[in-house]
Amino acid sequence: MNSKNSRLWLDLSVAFILVVLLIGGGMLIYQLNFDAMEVEVDNALAQRGQEISTQEGCIACHTVDGSLGVGPSWQGMIGRIETLDNGTSIVVDEVYFLESIRYAKRKMVDGYPNVMPSYMMEEEEIDALFAFASQLSQ
Ligand code: HEC
Repeated sequence: MNSKNSRLWLDLSVAFILVVLLIGGGMLIYQLNFDAMEVEVDNALAQRGQEISTQEGCIACHTVDGSLGVGPSWQGMIGRIETLDNGTSIVVDEVYFLESIRYAKRKMVDGYPNVMPSYMMEEEEIDALFAFASQLSQ
């Protein structure tokens, strides 16, 4: 290898390392941000629900602390009487919770944008999410 070539390789290697560091650093900050959002729960099912909420991206729209998000906060959700955009009201129970996830467009909470995608989740995952939201609704 001549010296021009090895210089090129050095440049490429440095560039590669910088890119890896940049992406890795970004991912670390992203992860730390989500970890900072973690709340204390007192059972394994609710903790699994919390993990699913983070992994599936629910957390992007449903906050854990009652603060305003794109959708209603997990905090205080379960058991609340919600007004729908057709003027009727509904109690957020297990059945409505599951329906809201699998068929997100069926019943719309009044005052929110129609942006939530439907998720074909296992019932076991929805149970965990419900346990998590319930913990934040006591
Ligand atoms: C892009 C934003 C967005 C994401 C991501 C999202 N949601 Fe929603 N969600 C909303 C909005 C907005 C509403 C209120 C309007 C409606 O009824 O669709 C809502 C409503 C709900 C409701 C009904 C709540 C109530 O108070 O009536 C449940 C349950 C729910 N989402 C669960 C989930 C779960 C579980 C996930 C992740 C698997 C998720 N959402 C991901 C935006 C989102």
